[in-house]
Amino acid sequence: MAGAKTTKKFRSQEWFDNPDNPGMTALYLERYLNYGLTREELQSGKPLIGIAQTGSDLSPCNRHHIELAKRVREGIVAAGGVAFEFPCHPIQETGKRPTASLDRNLAYLSLVEVLYGYPLDGVVLTIGCDKTTPAMLMAAATVNIPAIALSVGPMLNGWHKGKRTGSGTIVWESRQRLSAGEIDYDEFMDIVASSAPSVGYCNTMGTATTMNSLAEALGMQLPGSAAIPAPYRERGQISYETGKRIVGMVHEDLKPSDIMTREAFENAIVINSAIGGSTNAPIHLNAIARHLGVKLDNDDWQAVGHKIPLLVNLQPAGEYLGEDYHHAGGVPAVAAELLKAGLLPHPAALTVNGRSMGDNCANVENLNPEVIHPVSNPLKESAGFINLKGNLFDSAIMKTSVISPEFRDRYLSNPKDPEAFEGKAMVFDGPEDYHARIDDPALGIDEHTLLFMRGAGAVGYPGGAEVVNMQPPAYLIKKGIHSLPCIGDGRQSGTSGTPSILNASPEAAVGGGLALLKSGDRVRIDLRKGTADILVTDDEIVRRRAELQNNGGYHFPEHQTPWQEIQRGMVDQLSEGMVLKPAVKYQ
Ligand code: FES
Ligand code: MG
Repeated sequence: MAGAKTTKKFRSQEWFDNPDNPGMTALYLERYLNYGLTREELQSGKPLIGIAQTGSDLSPCNRHHIELAKRVREGIVAAGGVAFEFPCHPIQETGKRPTASLDRNLAYLSLVEVLYGYPLDGVVLTIGCDKTTPAMLMAAATVNIPAIALSVGPMLNGWHKGKRTGSGTIVWESRQRLSAGEIDYDEFMDIVASSAPSVGYCNTMGTATTMNSLAEALGMQLPGSAAIPAPYRERGQISYETGKRIVGMVHEDLKPSDIMTREAFENAIVINSAIGGSTNAPIHLNAIARHLGVKLDNDDWQAVGHKIPLLVNLQPAGEYLGEDYHHAGGVPAVAAELLKAGLLPHPAALTVNGRSMGDNCANVENLNPEVIHPVSNPLKESAGFINLKGNLFDSAIMKTSVISPEFRDRYLSNPKDPEAFEGKAMVFDGPEDYHARIDDPALGIDEHTLLFMRGAGAVGYPGGAEVVNMQPPAYLIKKGIHSLPCIGDGRQSGTSGTPSILNASPEAAVGGGLALLKSGDRVRIDLRKGTADILVTDDEIVRRRAELQNNGGYHFPEHQTPWQEIQRGMVDQLSEGMVLKPAVKYQ
């Protein structure tokens, strides 16, 4: 156990050992004895450690944490702590309607109450499926008691007929094959099922692998923890180490605010570019930062991250999957490559093990340069996000690592003759509208059309739907046109390789520029200047805005649950982390 022990009384002793108020102490204490805990355990000044359990039958990506928590508990006890496992609100990315991201802030709120209101001195945050990671880290940021994250680990690689099948990515690919009549429904289902061969989270570089990698890049997980596949023995072993380490962190009073500093966020942005991370990352990291009072916005993502090369060859930007990432060395090997090239901005940033990122990673060997490329031989140069602005929105993110080489040469990286691309807008109001109309030939969608999705942001959907990556109409796919530029105020699954322009803020539902767009408008996007504009006169914009106001604003679907209504009333935009605005002041 690293570091010095403090002599101070832990916060749990205010509940369990307060002789000045024996009545309350007895009330607090007795019920925790009823299943076998002893006064000796609760009153001897041992740290009481929560295990925030995000696994359940409803959350299969994180379900293996039910097993891993046993090893965490053994680690806590071995280091002289007492373990309290408790359930967290389930968030299942693929199973929750209308969208799992609606629940991120709900799980955040609930965990804040638990961490604040119960006698816990530290907490192990069990992370995995997309939104579980930010929800846990946001709550740890707000309450700021010692906290360590534990990834559940990715699933094993999926295989079908000798080819790697990656979570989500195979769905997007196979759906096109189904639309084109190349495979039937049963084969489609078999292919997709092959991508989920074991316990664990998505094995592609989707939002789950991204956020687990970034929790490690931020310093909140033990080195190497993010990438170990869920069923591997090392997963149980690092769970034990994580349990042991949180007890040490409580003795050292090592808190989230000591670790998740501005420097740590800049390291995470750089690592996100190098791994080809999800466009959901800026939403979640901006949110965690806001709950800590660290300044971070989408301009920082471009300024710090855009010039960083893509090193990790995982689907959807590359070929490989989670097991390969782990065998190559995971996050520490990526950090080591960046360190060698002088690209990791803050090697001195502290991590949960009490050592710096640089100390943890500098001597880690990259065991497979085909999976984790060195900076001298990147998969793509300048592969981070760009942040676009204009009369359509104040901020929208584009993931440049998935742009095709031809498109990149023509529109992004040609320094002499930068071209902007222009096209005719086809506007859809939410995913239902898109599905109902996309194949209608009367819309006249062709290869020069830009597809727009609006009404899909934090307020409009609500929670922000992953629907901006829109497949072209089947008649274009049959002609060999597999993608059209997609732009919208919703999100996109991290497992999709579509080079969309996403998370546009402010969204249509709160009167952003997208609400003024009409199908048939010309739109101009200049990636090098970072602009996106409807080509209409300023007078026309004024006229359309007045018309929108006269119509009572942009119409979005009714609330279906109390939480939808509550969140819509206080949620910030995707560019601002989609946080609950009143929650940010509690630091
Ligand atoms: Fe849960 Fe991807 S759906 S990790
Ligand atoms: Mg997703």
